[in-house]
Amino acid sequence: MTTTRNGRGRRMLTFGAVLQGAGGHIAGWRHPLSPPDGGLDLAHHIRVAQTLERGTFDVVFVADLLAVSGAHLDSLPRTARSNTFEPLTLLAALSTVTERIGLVGTASTTYNEPFHVARKFASLDHLSAGRAGWNVVTSVSPREAANFGRDTHLEHDLRYRRAAEFVDVVRALWDSFDDGAVLRDTAAGRYYDPAGLHTPHHRGEHFTVRGPLSISRPPQGHPVIFQAGSSEAGRDFAARDGEVVFTAQRELAGAQRFYADVKARAAARGRNPDHLLVWPVLAPIVADTEAAARARRDELLDLIHDDVARRLVQDTVGDLDLSGYPLDGPLPEIGETNGSRSRQEQMVGLARGENLTIRELARRSSGGGMIIGTPETIADHVEEWFTGRGADGFNVGFPYLPGAAEDFVDHVVPELRRRGLFRESYTETTLRGHLGLPRPSARPGPEDRADVGAESGAESGAETSEAVSR
Ligand SMILES: Cc1cc2nc3c(=O)[nH]c(=O)nc-3n(C[C@H](O)[C@H](O)[C@H](O)COP(=O)(O)O)c2cc1C
Repeated sequence: MTTTRNGRGRRMLTFGAVLQGAGGHIAGWRHPLSPPDGGLDLAHHIRVAQTLERGTFDVVFVADLLAVSGAHLDSLPRTARSNTFEPLTLLAALSTVTERIGLVGTASTTYNEPFHVARKFASLDHLSAGRAGWNVVTSVSPREAANFGRDTHLEHDLRYRRAAEFVDVVRALWDSFDDGAVLRDTAAGRYYDPAGLHTPHHRGEHFTVRGPLSISRPPQGHPVIFQAGSSEAGRDFAARDGEVVFTAQRELAGAQRFYADVKARAAARGRNPDHLLVWPVLAPIVADTEAAARARRDELLDLIHDDVARRLVQDTVGDLDLSGYPLDGPLPEIGETNGSRSRQEQMVGLARGENLTIRELARRSSGGGMIIGTPETIADHVEEWFTGRGADGFNVGFPYLPGAAEDFVDHVVPELRRRGLFRESYTETTLRGHLGLPRPSARPGPEDRADVGAESGAESGAETSEAVSR
């Protein structure tokens, strides 16, 4: 099994899209075509998910923050960021009105327990007949601590150590039941085979979890693991457990380095590097001409309020109060953040490298790598990154919804299909199938183990094949 390929063995693109409210751009909710209620409208979310499915996207992705966005709440009343759905609840609803598209949601390993997460994603995988994916995050925002009885955020690298053990426990819980252990033998009165139920008995540095999980093995074995680490600790974690790795890289050279680096790290852990897909972000605005696309972008950027521009830069570069600095002046000196270091380095590098003012940095950073153009030039960009091994696919953050997604599906997707880079129709039914990822076996031998996390099961050395009858 290799990365997604067409019938003739050619490597094919894969695509996800972020779905939450009125779109990825901070001023998207002010766009004349955005949903009138600020984005908590189920019909709107269904419309976008079904549009993406019409475009044979692999994934609809719901990001998450366990706090309202914005450190001091000053700019919050000017954004739609404080009013979002809980991801799994939204994805469960979407599972009933879609048939093929993968359903990927974020859950934090810092402010959850493994049992909760294992159970929820197993449920989503069953509800959707094998379309669930978990975006494993260690919580990017220090503000989440205050919602969980803590004064400070866990230290960056400690969060990743906890995350690695967390994922091991979740995998062990998903493997509680063997495939086929649930018999439903009504004649003999045997619901499941007790020999096919295993209790993890996990005792580790961060978690003690007896198990077993109270739901049978997910249709995919394990829902697909998504991840977005970028720092040293984050990339190691991606190499260990990530099957799709998001990255905010905006330049091709940086994306190529990231791509080569995480694949090499995965190979060094004994994994097949084709089983780790790299998805940079893409925020496209498409129109018939370059000028029309630029006009659409400028219309959106002009909707960024001054308070939002200042806060946007402050939140992105981290640990800095910009209130005394003029928006049309340069970014001052700043210290290292305990939040996302890679993001901080990227933003500061951009500001210094191009001599940007705070306002310009806000406009540039607000789109998350906006690509503006015609269907052909956007397809050129996608093709260049894909064939140049900077990307196996993209996580598309449409700046405003549903319009930008409809334009992409109607104009860019056909162009990518014409070039033979993207599927004409779904050929598989599960998310693992779409992505060309293997299904983890329930009781893996040493050769399978390498592909479900190199150290998987190490902490669960106490894992027994004890069969329990409940
Ligand atoms: C496309 C994308 C989506 C992300 N989604 C989330 C999210 O939903 N919740 C979250 O807390 N962090 C999210 N992150 C942040 C990452 O989890 C991670 O903290 C960040 O990439 C920095 O990596 P580092 O922790 O290794 O420095 C996302 C990052 C990217 C690039």
